[in-house]
Amino acid sequence: MEKDLFGKALLDYQNGNYTEDIITATNISDEDKLPIPYLFRGFTEMPKLEQKALQVSSGKILDVGAGAGSHSLYLQEKGFEVKAIDISEGAIEVCKKRGVKNAEVKDILNETDSFDTILLLMNGTGIFQELQQVASYLKHLKSILNTGGQILIDSSDIKYMYEDEDGGFWMDTTANYYGELDYFLSYKGENEKPMKWLYLDFNTLLTACTSVGLQCKLLQEGEHFDYLAKLTL
Ligand SMILES: C[S@@+](CC[C@H](N)C(=O)[O-])C[C@H]1O[C@@H](n2cnc3c(N)ncnc32)[C@H](O)[C@@H]1O
Repeated sequence: MEKDLFGKALLDYQNGNYTEDIITATNISDEDKLPIPYLFRGFTEMPKLEQKALQVSSGKILDVGAGAGSHSLYLQEKGFEVKAIDISEGAIEVCKKRGVKNAEVKDILNETDSFDTILLLMNGTGIFQELQQVASYLKHLKSILNTGGQILIDSSDIKYMYEDEDGGFWMDTTANYYGELDYFLSYKGENEKPMKWLYLDFNTLLTACTSVGLQCKLLQEGEHFDYLAKLTL
């Protein structure tokens, strides 16, 4: 992460210097606030899909893109062996300060340990950045998954974001996949370098999984075009 504004915001909150929220925007949507306390959520404040993912997690667990480590902490407290990784140095510092025992600054593509459960939560497909890269990320995740293991990942079909008031869709069908977004983040007046962030509808995820020899099952649907999927060998 270029400036690691996301990590800075998490650290400010952790250190008692919470004064403002992160501002996000995308190429197809206006500015929105990402409340920092949300990233420090407990089990009861989590969406149902995340609660489900935590309830079915087992064995040795990897939390990919752990952020402030809320999912890792819950699982660690339940007695599981958990490793939290994130490319944000600030995020990993916060994970450690909050008590996550095994937390490392690491890109998922550089992770070589193997796990029984791999979690990618809060639009876990975002980390894949663009449709063209999905297969290589999935192949890597498959390579670090133990026999009998599972990858739990959530995302949304964001087709609704392209719907106009008459119920028509304004997306350009000759353009890239509609879930590929440019994502802008700012915090305390500073702008992060624009990022790519991918939302995948379930069928597109299923097709990608099939192409790399992973099974893909719809575990639960959320309230707004979101879902939790379970990928297995
Ligand atoms: C939307 S946040 C989700 C945080 C956390 N999982 C939660 O639910 O609160 C996505 C996180 O993924 C991290 N991330 C992005 N790309 C990554 C990669 N290639 N490997 C590991 N972490 C990554 C970001 O730094 C960020 O902390």
